[in-house]
Amino acid sequence: MSATPLRKPSADTAFDVERIRADFPILHNVRPHGKPLSFLDNAASSQMPQQVIDRIVRYETHEHANIHRGVHLLSTLATEAYEGARRSVQRFLNAKEDREIIFTTGCTEGVNLVMHGYGRKFIGAGDEIIVTHLEHHSNIVPWQMLCEEKGAKLRVAPIDDRGEVIQEAYDALFNERTKFVAISHVSNALGTINPVRRMIDVAHARGIPVLVDGAQAAPHIAVDVQALDCDFYAFSGHKVCGPTGSGALYGKAALLEKMQPFKGGGDMILSVTFEKTTFNTIPHKFEAGTPPIMPMIGLGAALDYLSAIGMDRIAAHEHALLEYATEQVSALDGVRIIGTAREKAAVLSFYVGEVHPHDVGTLLDEEGVAVRTGHHCAQPVMQRFGVPATVRASFAFYNTFAEVDALVEAIRKVQKLFG
Ligand code: ALA
Repeated sequence: MSATPLRKPSADTAFDVERIRADFPILHNVRPHGKPLSFLDNAASSQMPQQVIDRIVRYETHEHANIHRGVHLLSTLATEAYEGARRSVQRFLNAKEDREIIFTTGCTEGVNLVMHGYGRKFIGAGDEIIVTHLEHHSNIVPWQMLCEEKGAKLRVAPIDDRGEVIQEAYDALFNERTKFVAISHVSNALGTINPVRRMIDVAHARGIPVLVDGAQAAPHIAVDVQALDCDFYAFSGHKVCGPTGSGALYGKAALLEKMQPFKGGGDMILSVTFEKTTFNTIPHKFEAGTPPIMPMIGLGAALDYLSAIGMDRIAAHEHALLEYATEQVSALDGVRIIGTAREKAAVLSFYVGEVHPHDVGTLLDEEGVAVRTGHHCAQPVMQRFGVPATVRASFAFYNTFAEVDALVEAIRKVQKLFG
């Protein structure tokens, strides 16, 4: 976040948030405890616009069939829709080729696919894998499992009191045993935006491939995998206004071709005999069995929806919301913000006096304010800050300044109650 003057830009005519909100039925349909809904749990899952719901209904009512398998009309329509969604992901990430996009059930599966497909083939005893202290469990545990299996070692780049990765310490982790780097683009617990381009360059100077966990970046900032030059980029559909069970992994074609398949089964083969199987070309080599077709078509529609609004405009609106929320919440007595990185996206994690975050979350819900409380599947981050959990408000482009006000008012009520 920059140190620009803070104000409530209610007259933002360039970004018509009310018009955008009209696309999201759930924001109007649900009144928790009779209160207007302020949905500030977008880092866990964003909501779905009518355009995506309509696309899913069209598939289910006019196009439903299996893909890549039939010559009949419905199978052709379903295949076209599924492969069209792949091209939507390609455009969204600015990947060079659509065969560099593998559909997954979410970011976690993307990381696991790379661990199995690349890690188990190319990482061995004594090798080292670098992660950061900011990672979500899904970008720690798969690498730990690999280290356990292969006798490799996990090295962790530390963070400072703001929640920023200490770049000199990251650089110092590299040595001749380093074989892989796995880093988040944006921290789910704190909102820190990592300088991933720089971190990728450091790894590439030694010829080491880098996976970026983009789960919390893809919904908020324009991602260009060619400009980042990352080797792998994983994200989830349900955080970009798509369905749960959808997601994608970008991988550079040359690397994907060298990798072993993650799962065996139908569609990932060219030929099978009992003596030998020849694997399909990428991306199909990594998509065994009937995939979640409807979720991926929904994902494609969601990314087209976001692109039509414009990721730069989305980022600007969310940045203004985060600055306003940071100013308002930090002005409250006894509230401690956890994570004060200079570059942040969409996340405000905090602690209210001595009140347990779960109690705060329950009381905020009674005021209609939905937040996540807990360790956010990032326990090492909590340990670093000496807290068991935080309250986390996470924003989307359809959130308003009035919803931030509702959050602040609800925190005041909690403080009064706990006096
Ligand atoms: N990883 C998601 C979150 O941060 C679920 O809430």
